[in-house]
Amino acid sequence: ARPDDILIATYPKAGTTWVSYILDLLYFRESLEDRLTTIPIYERVPFLEICIPGLFSGKDLVDNLTTSPRLIKTHLPVQFVPKSFWEQNCRIVYMARNAKDNMVSFFHFDRMNKVEPDPGEWSSFFQRFLDGKMVFGSWYDHVNNWWKKKESYSNLHYMFFEDLVENTGHEIEKLCSFLGLSPSAEEVERLSSSVQFDNMKKDKMANYSTAPVMDFKISPFMRKGKVGDWKNHFTVAQNEAFDEDYKKKMTDPTLQ
Ligand code: PPS
Repeated sequence: ARPDDILIATYPKAGTTWVSYILDLLYFRESLEDRLTTIPIYERVPFLEICIPGLFSGKDLVDNLTTSPRLIKTHLPVQFVPKSFWEQNCRIVYMARNAKDNMVSFFHFDRMNKVEPDPGEWSSFFQRFLDGKMVFGSWYDHVNNWWKKKESYSNLHYMFFEDLVENTGHEIEKLCSFLGLSPSAEEVERLSSSVQFDNMKKDKMANYSTAPVMDFKISPFMRKGKVGDWKNHFTVAQNEAFDEDYKKKMTDPTLQ
């Protein structure tokens, strides 16, 4: 890592692309306008640990970045983040999303992404999510352990998908303050509008339509972008089982 690298860390499907897009526009919209229309977001903000032989190596993409700062995406649980990010005191932005919507989004992603394991039936996927038998491990461990990391590592900004939906401008302001940037009110407003779901969904360089491993006929990458879509998937019994299990795993009252 380099000291000015910015790591964007998330559990898969928590809004990684949204934060990546916001950061990319914040840093490069003015200076590198062409980048927005010619380079897909997954190359502008490489996925550090991805490796699909013959197609992608996230590490190579990061090594080849010529921009500064380098924006780097990871889904690694906190204990697996390469040590140099801590040693270089890099800024890290972590985004969490409520577990139920996160699970639903992940289910549809596994249906359409050819490099992910097939999700199987919803009910078995539901159970595997609760059991933490997922690529990148347990959602519960991921969000909890990254949350705890804030106690010992101050260069970590922890944010929530739902807050970003509710008040995009305010969340962008908080993010900018963490990054040491001070955009004008007009700039924040312009950015908030550019990063709304419908705009990103239309943008070929942000909506993953150029990614060769995804089948949009099954489900688009920019699927719904909503809070509460879990209500269209969970049965009443699943919701009760989920809530009971959740209480046992999410015991830190400071993380809501
Ligand atoms: S990945 O594959 O882990 O990088 O996916 P990730 O980007 O983390 O998550 C994809 C979900 O984020 C939604 N999304 C948005 N929601 C609201 N507004 C904006 N601008 C936005 N951009 C991405 C995207 O639609 C996926 O969620 P679901 O619920 O499946 O629609």
